[in-house]
Amino acid sequence: MAPTLRPRRLRQSAPMRRLVAETRIHPAQLVLPMFVAEGLSEPRPISSMPGQVQHTLDSAAREVERAIAAGVGGVMLFGVPEHKDAEGSGATDPDGILNAATRFLAERFGDATVVQTDLCLDEFTDHGHCGVLAADGAVDNDATLERYADMAVAQAAAGSQILGLSGMMDGQVERVREALDAAGHQQTAILAYSAKYASALYGPFREAVDSSLQGDRKTYQQDPANRREGLREALLDLAEGADIVMVKPASLYLDVLADVAAASDVPVWAYQVSGEYAMVEAAAANGWIDRDRLIAESLTSIVRAGADVVLTYWAIEQAEWLGAMR
Ligand code: PBG
Repeated sequence: MAPTLRPRRLRQSAPMRRLVAETRIHPAQLVLPMFVAEGLSEPRPISSMPGQVQHTLDSAAREVERAIAAGVGGVMLFGVPEHKDAEGSGATDPDGILNAATRFLAERFGDATVVQTDLCLDEFTDHGHCGVLAADGAVDNDATLERYADMAVAQAAAGSQILGLSGMMDGQVERVREALDAAGHQQTAILAYSAKYASALYGPFREAVDSSLQGDRKTYQQDPANRREGLREALLDLAEGADIVMVKPASLYLDVLADVAAASDVPVWAYQVSGEYAMVEAAAANGWIDRDRLIAESLTSIVRAGADVVLTYWAIEQAEWLGAMR
């Protein structure tokens, strides 16, 4: 008996496949994470992330121009300070590298793109943790919330339009919202890295920001074993007033992403992190994988699972490629 139901009909040619594709990526739904370092005279390559650099202010400006020209939706800034201390003072100093870079880039490009900032202490603390430490060495949740509140106001004052709360402290969205509103920054949006897992995939990022972390972040970032908890974290952030929720990393957590996308009434983003980038680049450099196909497939899969926007180090390249396809 010949089959009458033939799904292959819709796969028979490239135009047919293009017509029936369920998932399409638009450059505007890609956000470029960028590192801006203090005290550099030249951009400095990040060896574990081939093609990515720590930027100077000038090279960052050129990169943002490229991103805008390619149609990328926005940029997410990370600061790499020269000096670190226990409280991460550089994070709240208006002239600290992240706030200075934000002011510099928001002034120039704030009308053309969405300048966003990572809100976390890990780049600024000498111990490398995302919060301040209690006397016993544990990360002190509630003391950290006060630092985040000050950091949020400093970033909003510098011109950041979306604050990416990536520290995984309990109650951080509520505390930051309260601080922003009290300071007159009602229009500054909160992107909650809601379901952020303690992942080995952040390895290359630690080099990118000259991280000084000893140990791990397992008392605040989530256990990779937990799916239900990822949804719980997202629902809590929604209740606290998050404007956008995020799942991170992306590729290994597509189940969590799909759960959050099904439950959220605000946009859901995903972060294709440094290790996801490095694995593809390393395999491609060895000739073991078709780099361009894998990048496109990975982004398509993240969007298919439910992400409205993806943070990816390939944002410019991918946006240019998508533009050329049209
Ligand atoms: C915290 C932060 C991290 C990343 C984004 N924000 C590092 C961490 O939690 O250890 C990782 C991003 C990446 O790996 O690309 N400031």
